[in-house]
Amino acid sequence: MGRGHKSIETRHHQERDAFFDRLRHLDRRSFMRLAGLSAGIAAAKGLIVPQSFQLVSVAHGAEQRSGFSFAYISDSHLYEQKVNDRFIRSLLRAVDDVNRLSPQPDFVLYGGDLAQLGQKGELDLGAQILKSLKAPVRMMVGEHDWFLDMGARWRELFGEPQYSFDHKGVHFVTLMSVNEKDFWTARGMTPMERMQTVAGLDNGVQSRFEVGPEGRAWLKQDLSRVDKKTPVIVFSHSPLYKYYRPWNFWTEDADEVQAILAPFEKVTVIHGHTHQLLTQRIGNISFHGMLSTAWPWPYAPEGLPALTVQMNRADPFSAFDGCGDGRVDVNGNGLADKLYNLWDRNPVTVRAAYLASNGKSDRPAATTLPSY
Ligand SMILES: [Fe+2]
Ligand SMILES: [Fe+2]
Repeated sequence: MGRGHKSIETRHHQERDAFFDRLRHLDRRSFMRLAGLSAGIAAAKGLIVPQSFQLVSVAHGAEQRSGFSFAYISDSHLYEQKVNDRFIRSLLRAVDDVNRLSPQPDFVLYGGDLAQLGQKGELDLGAQILKSLKAPVRMMVGEHDWFLDMGARWRELFGEPQYSFDHKGVHFVTLMSVNEKDFWTARGMTPMERMQTVAGLDNGVQSRFEVGPEGRAWLKQDLSRVDKKTPVIVFSHSPLYKYYRPWNFWTEDADEVQAILAPFEKVTVIHGHTHQLLTQRIGNISFHGMLSTAWPWPYAPEGLPALTVQMNRADPFSAFDGCGDGRVDVNGNGLADKLYNLWDRNPVTVRAAYLASNGKSDRPAATTLPSY
């Protein structure tokens, strides 16, 4: 190697350090320059590590001929950089992961909880970082984005939180599932007190999450024009079933929402909020959790769905362990294989066939590294 040669890793780290230096003095125009830089870094093929989810082999059966993929990133819980940059680094790692996918996914689902306390600086920073994704982004809202200003800034940045679209023969619906009944007015809470109450996992003061009557009426109306044979994929921040109520791993009107989805032959729900590998099947509906880029939640002390193959407890000495991102491969038959890209661990794929057989076939391999 000649003098002055820098390895690709060295260049990557130097460019990342420069990224953070300039993030401190960020305006919109300079961000776009940095976003371009980030995409360039991601294109460096030498950076692909053995655990990168690009390298996971996906079965290419006849049923997948007309399939497609989308990636997901979720639950980044950003603070402003002056407070804490650890979660910013994690989100940037996920953006690099997704930008490195080849072929690129058709779109990227962002699963909610972009911000930690719903503050403008947090949401704006997240929006800017997500602009460096090469594929189009579909946004979903989480409770951490919402309860400071009741969604005002989030809406300005990303539009309405509830919407649907059709893509390659699949009907997609994004729900706003983290509505809560008013627990704050009677208590005279400030907006920040309201936000911090909702942000507390086991804070008993808050209400349970719900899609709510208006949201359910919208869903019914939206699905009324969809053929029952058309595959439906639903995005919701909270799990659309009742897992563990004290932590709001729960949607209060889940039974009613499931009843609206029940007439459809193929339904898959992809949700955030639980920050863990989570698998459930109720009737014809398959449910998959998403990994967080910020931290893994422990499994709840009761109510864990039987089909869930648990991820290991995270190594407390590694900030990235237990976190990650992933991809959903929608097969030609409209069912979905869900890939969990656990950072620095073996990735796990939970296949449609595993859920359809109620766990009798295609059981995912458990993660193999030790628990802590
Ligand atoms: Fe979250
Ligand atoms: Fe959440």
